[in-house]
Amino acid sequence: MSIEQLKEQEDRYQLPTYSKFPFFIERGEGCYVFDEKGNKYLDFYGAHAVASTGHCHPHVVEAIQKQAAQLIFYSNVSYNSVRARALAKLLTLAGPPYYQAFLVNSGGEANDNALKLARAATGRREVVSLVGSFHGRSYGALSATGIPKYRDYLNTPVPAHRVVSQEEVVESICEETAAVLIEPIQSMGGVEEIGAGLLKEIQAACKTHGALMIFDEVQTGVARTGSFLYSGHEGIYPEMVCLAKGIASGFPAGALLVTQDLAAGVQNGDLGSTFGGGPLSCAAMEATREVIESENLTENAARMGEYLRENLLEIPIVQEVLGRGLLVGVRVAEGMTAKKLQGVLLKQHILAGSSMDPQVLRMMPPLTITTREADLFVEAVQTA
Ligand SMILES: Cc1ncc(COP(=O)(O)O)c(C=O)c1O
Repeated sequence: MSIEQLKEQEDRYQLPTYSKFPFFIERGEGCYVFDEKGNKYLDFYGAHAVASTGHCHPHVVEAIQKQAAQLIFYSNVSYNSVRARALAKLLTLAGPPYYQAFLVNSGGEANDNALKLARAATGRREVVSLVGSFHGRSYGALSATGIPKYRDYLNTPVPAHRVVSQEEVVESICEETAAVLIEPIQSMGGVEEIGAGLLKEIQAACKTHGALMIFDEVQTGVARTGSFLYSGHEGIYPEMVCLAKGIASGFPAGALLVTQDLAAGVQNGDLGSTFGGGPLSCAAMEATREVIESENLTENAARMGEYLRENLLEIPIVQEVLGRGLLVGVRVAEGMTAKKLQGVLLKQHILAGSSMDPQVLRMMPPLTITTREADLFVEAVQTA
């Protein structure tokens, strides 16, 4: 079958999801992916912020292969050694106050379970979230999402969700609030950091009114912003943290981290997921964490983020560099748009993402990039 026929077949049988790159991605190695003809692309989109250790890191590949040959799946109804190790490593890296985790398959599932747990723990109904946030496509997560393009598809959102602006959020927290769900850097929204000042005010209001704070760290977590979690930044620790994307280098996995107080209220049967915490995803998670530690990827994300920022700011069309570590937004000057710049980069075989802000290009490259890849990216932006 020709490549054109295969493309037609995918379009014929798959419901529309995303607008796709005009080529197939058939192989990945480190910071690069390769199309059906073997053409090489520098992946600054990071496979949707997922390829944390790069594509097909040998240590992660070996862990998945070894586990697949030993046991592909058994659920949480049995103990399993790789799950025990992966959980211990995850909680050790996250550090206090996070005490236990619920392992899931995706970011949406982590957020949905955080909301469910918050409502159960407080006995309250209301969830507050922010305009500009993206929390996923599952029903609860989408009901909390603050981007109308996605949320409006729900003709009946989950009740008792309030999506409010940053100006309104503190006064929106009251005795009925179960939780405030926050994406500390709104990635899809245009790489907008909420900022420690407002986060502290939200946390104080939550404490006053007995509400819980949840960070959606699906993009900011797992070392991307220069620390293992964004939580803890300026001493702000939400009661729950949701992780996914880069947590297992591309094997579907997610986690909900909770404090000891919250964990104490959860009983057998309250939470569950057939595939969550399966041996293959745990093997990929454990290996991902080992690579993050052995290759100092947390420090690399901070260093490379700074290097990119300094060099990008020298370019006349770059008005502002947003984000933290390797969650990078480039605000382009008038006369240029993110879409145009994305096209210029694609012609030079560099993948980057857009955002809801037409002036902001979004990059979430593998945490393994070196100055070589950063320089290639900066040189390509200079040609625009
Ligand atoms: C911040 C954030 N939260 C949640 C999600 C949803 O994750 P998933 O697609 O794994 O359900 C995403 C996905 O892009 C995200 O960026």
